[in-house]
Amino acid sequence: MQVDEDKLAAYFADEPSDAPFSHLDRTRLPRHVSIIMDGNGRWAQAQGLSRSEGHKAGIVALREIITASVRLGIDVLSAYAFSTENWNRPAHEVNVLMHLFAKTFIDELPLLKRENVRVVFLGDIEALPKKTREVFEYGVEACKDHTGMVLALAVNYGARAELTRACRLLAQDVAAGRVDPAAIDERAISSRLYTAGLPDPELVIRTSGELRLSNYLLWQVAYAEFYVTDTYWPDFNRWDYVRALLSFEGRDRRFGGLSKK
Ligand code: IPE
Ligand code: IPE
Ligand code: MG
Repeated sequence: MQVDEDKLAAYFADEPSDAPFSHLDRTRLPRHVSIIMDGNGRWAQAQGLSRSEGHKAGIVALREIITASVRLGIDVLSAYAFSTENWNRPAHEVNVLMHLFAKTFIDELPLLKRENVRVVFLGDIEALPKKTREVFEYGVEACKDHTGMVLALAVNYGARAELTRACRLLAQDVAAGRVDPAAIDERAISSRLYTAGLPDPELVIRTSGELRLSNYLLWQVAYAEFYVTDTYWPDFNRWDYVRALLSFEGRDRRFGGLSKK
C-alpha cells in the first residue's frame, strides 16, 4: 500500500491535543464504544449548507474520534454510518453517501495504517454499489494485519436484518445436522452476528438528541450504558467524547445484582 507522506505530515500537524484525556480514569474506560453518528443534516441546515456538506463535516468528526479512541486505548470503536432504513432517503443523498464512504476510506488508509487500526464492516456490504463495496474490501484487506484498535463501521446495517440472518444461518446448520437444536445457546446466536468475536458495546453515544436506537445493535446493547447529547455529530469533538466517557465512568453498573459501592 502506498502511503502519502504529505498527508501523513498533515495529520501529525493537525493532531488535536490530548489535554482533555487527563480528566479520565484510564482503568474505568469502556472496552467498546459505539456511536450513532446523527445530526449531519441538521448541522448543515443550521449553517445554510447542503446535507452533503453535513456528511462531509461528519467524516472530520469521525476522524477525530478515531484518533482519540486510539490514544485512549479503546479496544473497539463502532460507528453507525448507514442503516438499512437510510435507503429511504432521496437517491441523490444515498449516492453522495456511498461516494463519500468510498473516497474517505481510501483517503484515510494512511491514518489507519499509522494508528494500526483494523477495520471490519457490520452489515450487508454485498448489497452496496460495486465501487463502494470494492473499496471496502480492498481497505479491509489492507488493514487486516493491524493489531491495534478495531474500527467497526456499520454500513447497510440493521439489527433486525442481522438477527434474521443469524436465524437463517443457524437454521441451515440445524438442517445440515451440524447443530443440535437443544444445544443452541446465546453464544450460538452471538457468533452468527456481524459482531462475532467483538466484545459487546459498553457505552453507546448518540448525537443530536434523538432518544432511540434506530435499529442499531439490538442484541449487543442489552447491557450497554447510553449517553445522548444534543450536539450534532459534525460538532462532536474530543471534549464531548471525554464528557461521554466521564459519564460512563461515573455509572454504577449493577447487571441485575447489587451495587458494589
Ligand atoms: C447522520 O446524520 C448520518 C446518516 C444517517 C447517514 P443525518 O443525515 O441523519 O442527519 P439529520 O438527522 O437529518 O440531522
Ligand atoms: C441513524 O440515524 C442511522 C445512522 C446514524 C447511520 P437516522 O437519522 O437514520 O435515524 P432516525 O431516522 O432519526 O431514526
Ligand atoms: Mg438523522
